[in-house]
Amino acid sequence: MKEVIIFFLICLAICDGVSVQLTSYRKTSVTFIAKVCVDDSLLTRTTSNRIQCGLLCSGHSGCRRFLFCPVSLVCTLYSDGTDCPVEQDTTSCSCYMKTVGYDGSNYTCPFGFYGNRCQQVVSDCADGVSRGVFTNAEGKNTLVYIKPATSPDPFEVYCETQEPGSIIILNRNVDCSSESFNRSLVDYELGFGIVRENSWIGFTGLLAVLTSSPDNKFALRVEISYNGGECMTEYEGFNIGNKETGYKLIIESYTPVTGFNPCGDSLMDDLAVVGYSFTTYDVDYTDTHLCGQKIGAGWWFASHPNCARSYLTGSMDGTSSGALWADDLEGYILNRIVVTLRKIV
Ligand SMILES: *[C@@H]1O[C@H](CO)[C@@H](O)[C@H](O)[C@H]1NC(C)=O
Ligand SMILES: *[C@@H]1O[C@H](CO)[C@@H](O)[C@H](O)[C@H]1NC(C)=O
Repeated sequence: MKEVIIFFLICLAICDGVSVQLTSYRKTSVTFIAKVCVDDSLLTRTTSNRIQCGLLCSGHSGCRRFLFCPVSLVCTLYSDGTDCPVEQDTTSCSCYMKTVGYDGSNYTCPFGFYGNRCQQVVSDCADGVSRGVFTNAEGKNTLVYIKPATSPDPFEVYCETQEPGSIIILNRNVDCSSESFNRSLVDYELGFGIVRENSWIGFTGLLAVLTSSPDNKFALRVEISYNGGECMTEYEGFNIGNKETGYKLIIESYTPVTGFNPCGDSLMDDLAVVGYSFTTYDVDYTDTHLCGQKIGAGWWFASHPNCARSYLTGSMDGTSSGALWADDLEGYILNRIVVTLRKIV
């Protein structure tokens, strides 16, 4: 995916004889999904070809990615992100990410990159907010590149807006395209899914964020919508052990969030899973109970016939309660789950 196309836009609008605009793009991938549930587009037009679509993006300082589909001639501009999830099975569509945009005075960088010609990267969402590299003013969660100190390369995460600076690590939405969470440990390490829809950040990225701020404490926030309401619960002193520990779960305390209906505590109370390693169907730490296979989800399961009182990675089809948060949502169907990581500064 290293193909770079460069558009030289000379005198695109008004020729002042001086300004030369240069924008570069990287070709990214188009993923066919059954339902795109979050419309994050900036602008949609028909253009005669891909180049015209690229010119439209180049001339728009808020555009950071574009999708062009030659059959429909539809050109869509987006304000963030790398790849393009599309509903139609249009393999001929192409997706490009703006790596550097320049309008004669200002640079447009992929979110998270900043500085002259976008050479620097924020270390995490909190760093991005405090540097003013991006704001959450629009009330939209944003796809952002971060490079924690212990990470060799920048990677994309989903920055949250309600608590500016926090990172969405697990996102489930029954109204979006379904994504299997019954996956191997390698998948749980790499991360998977369409970030805005149903996704898991991956232990590699998560550990990079945690280990790059060893002096900070972290909170884990769990927000759930279920057939009956919404709730929120927070844990303080959240951390994850390294790969050798099997990504052991570390939590210091359960903290209900003032002003919100609490979800209850399904991690530290009955059948506590704190101190347990992360089990998947292929790497199971529950001895003969084989919780990974039985539940069909990766989670911190206890070595116990009941496995756990929670598994937010359980199947979600809106009719049965595969995903579980037993205290206090036993018997409810969970339709929306957002788990965020917040650095306490
Ligand atoms: C460049 O950015 C500055 C500060 O945000 C803004 O005032 C100015 O209008 C921008 N220039 C152009 C050509 O958009
Ligand atoms: C999860 O996937 C594994 C491997 O494909 C399979 O053996 C297991 O039965 C699945 N579990 C569920 C509950 O679907």
